[in-house]
Amino acid sequence: MKKILFVASEAVPFIKTGGLADVVGSLPKSIDKRYFDVRVVLPKYACMRQEIKDKMHYRDHFYMDFNWKNDYVGICEAEEDGVHYYFIDNEYYFNGQKPYSDDPRWEVERFAFFSKAALSILPVIDFKPDIIHCHDWQTGLVPVYLKERFRDGEFFRDMKSVITIHNLKFQGKWDTKTVKNITGLPEYYFSSDKLEAYKDANLLKGGIVYADAVTTVSETYAKEIQTKFYGEGLDGLLRARTHDLRGIVNGIDYKVYDPATDECIPNHFTAETFRKEKAKNKKKLQEELNLEVNPKKMMIGLVSRLTDQKGLDLVAYVMDELCHDGIQLVVLGTGEERYENMFRFYDWKYKDKVSANIYYSEPLSHKIYAACDAFLMPSLFEPCGLSQLISLRYGTVPIVRETGGLKDTVEPYNEYESKGTGFSFANYNAHEMLAAIRYAERIYYDKKREWNKIVDRAMAMDYSWNASARKYQEMYDWLIG
Ligand code: ADP
Ligand code: GLC
Repeated sequence: MKKILFVASEAVPFIKTGGLADVVGSLPKSIDKRYFDVRVVLPKYACMRQEIKDKMHYRDHFYMDFNWKNDYVGICEAEEDGVHYYFIDNEYYFNGQKPYSDDPRWEVERFAFFSKAALSILPVIDFKPDIIHCHDWQTGLVPVYLKERFRDGEFFRDMKSVITIHNLKFQGKWDTKTVKNITGLPEYYFSSDKLEAYKDANLLKGGIVYADAVTTVSETYAKEIQTKFYGEGLDGLLRARTHDLRGIVNGIDYKVYDPATDECIPNHFTAETFRKEKAKNKKKLQEELNLEVNPKKMMIGLVSRLTDQKGLDLVAYVMDELCHDGIQLVVLGTGEERYENMFRFYDWKYKDKVSANIYYSEPLSHKIYAACDAFLMPSLFEPCGLSQLISLRYGTVPIVRETGGLKDTVEPYNEYESKGTGFSFANYNAHEMLAAIRYAERIYYDKKREWNKIVDRAMAMDYSWNASARKYQEMYDWLIG
């Protein structure tokens, strides 16, 4: 039995701020249990819901030397869908109202603590993984500590590490002197071929340099991040590691996202019944959100973190034009204030056409995926994107920019060959996006049979974890040798 340990800062159902949590929550379940024992380490955040905390039980504790102190490391555990989870408990580091704070120095310290603790618990829980699979900058120090601190001694000697980049934009940076002091790593590690980048210490860079393999969440993003435009300053390093870098597209949990059984949606449907049932869901959502009740109106959904990454300045730029078309727009998201206020403004201006829901709601997100005709995702960059995969599964036609995982998972409609699962545009340009939306509108209103065939093809796609979990397994096998 090969042993794999995931280390990450979030996972469904325990804590979620974005797609990372969906991936860490669903990929371990999909790895073949006959050959792999996959376990997961997460922080125990004070802001986790009580019912989640109630699932955990205390396992052990010890004190760990960190940042010139002796810190408490509690270990709690829980079992979820056959996967074993460990939670690192330390009230000083994980007691915020939200899983992440806005203070970059504090974030670096907290996740340095988490990374060191994730390794330190292993002898205590008596789990000796063959591979430690790290995710994003928060766990970037794990491969570094594994090479340094923990290299002596039998227990850690042969452990390999993998880091998956879910978003290169976030790297965990702070000044070198402070990070040296916090982490206790010697001077040696802070040169420009190791942790240092542009004068700061960079935790993600450390992970990329020291991991035995690097992955990211789509093939196109794996190529893009080796270019200057998408490389966020690390493209040179990623080009240097090109032979150890691969893109494996994300899947979604087909049990959670299943329109035939989803408990959050009023009318269940399948590829056979979507024509009638989706329209009923739309009518209910129009009533619930005080939009004009007319199931024939084309409804476009947008469920997203409201940040620059998601291409919302393009949307802002053409909102008035778009709202003069025969469409409705339903937004669900939180994030930057200027986008939150932009959508609130248009909700006020076009009451029966635009609904801005500026909060986080799992149930409403499902209702939107189930009710809408199309889903808008004009991202500036998108490592993979899960929303378009959920949309395909719910027969909601994605309108996307051709970047990263969006390019790999949405096939543009081709009316001459009757192919395609969505609509797309190439350049980061608001009117190019508007043209793609208007093309979709024309097919929706004037060629309904064609539209329904797009939906058929969308719903026939398979973005469950099956194929991608196999690719991770192949990589683990290759690394273990
Ligand atoms: P990212 O991880 O960059 O935010 P993804 O598309 O990979 O983007 O994943 C986003 C996930 O978060 C999807 O499951 C989406 O439905 C969900 N989501 C985003 N914002 C909200 C919200 N306000 N309410 C509910 N779910 C949301
Ligand atoms: C990041 C990316 C998103 C990806 C998710 C899960 O949040 O922004 O594109 O789907 O991670 O890998």
